[in-house]
Amino acid sequence: MQGVFITIEGVEGSGKSTQLLRLSERLRRLGLPVVVSKEPGGTALGRELRRLLLERHVSGETWCPEAELLLFYADRAQHLETVIRPALAEAKIVLVDRFEDSTRAYQGASGVPESSLDRLNDVVLRGLKPHLTVMLDMDPEGSLQRVEVRNLALGSEYAETRFDEATLDFHRRVRNRFLIIAQKHPNRVALIPARNPVDQVEASIWVRVAPLLRSAGFGVD
Ligand SMILES: Nc1ncnc2c1ncn2[C@@H]1O[C@H](COP(=O)(O)OP(=O)(O)OP(=O)(O)O)[C@@H](O)[C@H]1O
Ligand SMILES: [Mg+2]
Repeated sequence: MQGVFITIEGVEGSGKSTQLLRLSERLRRLGLPVVVSKEPGGTALGRELRRLLLERHVSGETWCPEAELLLFYADRAQHLETVIRPALAEAKIVLVDRFEDSTRAYQGASGVPESSLDRLNDVVLRGLKPHLTVMLDMDPEGSLQRVEVRNLALGSEYAETRFDEATLDFHRRVRNRFLIIAQKHPNRVALIPARNPVDQVEASIWVRVAPLLRSAGFGVD
């Protein structure tokens, strides 16, 4: 049996972590072998990169777009090598919170040319693609409002939200890039309306995940 690689994507606050947790719990209840991870920060070194990427720095210095891009791909290379590829080789179901499409949407919206992304993708992914990408789609006005409520509830030390301070316009461009990716890869990407209640979103995701797992030989009934 082969492993199954599923990524979850979407603008901030669209419900990725909420849904990934629900999906992983459901798969565990079914007794299936699940590995849950995220980017950036799916490895110990990746967590150091995550801190470097997302925290505000005391110096006030910010990464230039190319440096930022390379740090994201360094995180991905390490994650693929030490977590994702080994788990797939062991026929596990690998669920990853943000992956390549987030880099394309966010760094693309920050002005990194598509050709640079393509070249780094060749070097780091070496042809590996998720079997399914769950793309949670909603307007950034609503999603950023959710983020605000969530972060207030979590307390001010929860400060990994550098992107939240970017303009709404930036987030709209990110969303559009996600939508273009979904259009370009209709077989890989399941576009799911994320404004709906949590249970409904979970059900829409399951409709796409269950047949994939079945076809890979996992018992989900
Ligand atoms: N369908 C939903 N309806 C209403 N609220 C939701 C829904 N899904 C998630 N939420 C709430 O919205 C907030 C953001 O959800 P979550 O953290 O899962 O989003 P995320 O996409 O992982 O965000 P980030 O990109 O910042 O990691 C949380 O407080 C969560 O409880
Ligand atoms: Mg999250």
